[in-house]
Amino acid sequence: MIQLGSADGSLIDELMELTAQSLSQLEIEEHFNVIKEIGRGKYGKVLLVTHRCRGTPMALKVMPKSSTKLQGFLREYCISLHLSSHPCIVGLFGIAFQSAEHYGFAQELVIGRDLFAVIQPKVGIPEASVKRCVVQVASALEFIHSHGLVHRDIKPENILLLDSNCCRVKLADFGLAQKRGTMIRYITGTLPYMSPELSSLALREGQQVEDMVTASPLSVEPSLDTWAFGVVIFCILTGYFPWECCLGTDEFYQEFADWCLIKEKEKEEGGEEEEGREELRDLEYEEEVPPLWKKFTPKAMEMFGKLLAPEAGKRSTVGEVRAYVDMDWLKKPQQQQAPEKDKVNPNTTATSNEARVIEDREKPNKN
Ligand SMILES: Nc1ncnc2c1ncn2[C@@H]1O[C@H](COP(=O)(O)OP(=O)(O)O)[C@@H](O)[C@H]1O
Ligand SMILES: [Mg+2]
Repeated sequence: MIQLGSADGSLIDELMELTAQSLSQLEIEEHFNVIKEIGRGKYGKVLLVTHRCRGTPMALKVMPKSSTKLQGFLREYCISLHLSSHPCIVGLFGIAFQSAEHYGFAQELVIGRDLFAVIQPKVGIPEASVKRCVVQVASALEFIHSHGLVHRDIKPENILLLDSNCCRVKLADFGLAQKRGTMIRYITGTLPYMSPELSSLALREGQQVEDMVTASPLSVEPSLDTWAFGVVIFCILTGYFPWECCLGTDEFYQEFADWCLIKEKEKEEGGEEEEGREELRDLEYEEEVPPLWKKFTPKAMEMFGKLLAPEAGKRSTVGEVRAYVDMDWLKKPQQQQAPEKDKVNPNTTATSNEARVIEDREKPNKN
């Protein structure tokens, strides 16, 4: 793979042009033995195949032409190819094609499951596995961002595991990836992983695309990935989604955003920390943390506060997690209390977790 030196992502356009010129026309069964379907997402399905001549096992991502634009396919393939040299990003074989009904490309086969499949509902996965996974995904994201690109679909379904303990993981699915600075005017539907600034572009019921043309568009920035990454960390540590969407109408999100505001105000007023203040701060911390977040240590909350800063400009970069990997993120079982009813914000009805348990790919993250 040639090194494309520019960090502004403009060489992706050139790679797309070149690929379009030489895209092979072939029928899948002529060139590959299809063994079975191993995955399916919103946009395509992934087939376990072996190459008919060489016998090489591969994961073939195929997308129906009926629902896929050629430009979108070329962008996904070229961005994936451009980034595939990173050890924590799924590898590519440099094979892209169109058949009568599909566009497709061949990927390295990752034999484990995806991260979503190993999350135990209401429990998550062990903290040590979470940390191993998080460090690798952060490294993949830093690589993507350093190339002037944004992944835009960070979620457990797109993190592939080579083993179930997360010793080796690989980020996949560049179907929504874009160059930094691309403008978005609207989105259809929200996911728990979407940041507040992105969620606010969701078309509401009855709203037309034309209504959004006057609203100010959003520039695609790495901070979108940082947010999603923070949400993924919450999900895999707990087995719950922190909220359904980042809009003021979601009480769980609102509670968290209110906590961020309190913290920020404290920081502005606090200045230099006096001696003995830290213990007092931990006590105060207990009072203020929203119920769903009480199982985390103060240090983990500090990390979440940085990754999930509601204001995109104040959000940290993904690499910030490295400062926290040697610290405990979950309180020890004896330190954890079940959230008491009277500690739940009386102004909200956000008292039940059940709606957001991670157990079904279709709900609420059906994309
Ligand atoms: N290289 C691969 N090896 C093994 N499984 C894969 C591979 N790529 C994707 N998958 C599985 O297929 C699913 C769908 O693939 P993905 O590229 O995310 O498609 P979509 O764009 O439709 O979401 C993933 O969630 C994962 O479970
Ligand atoms: Mg996917």
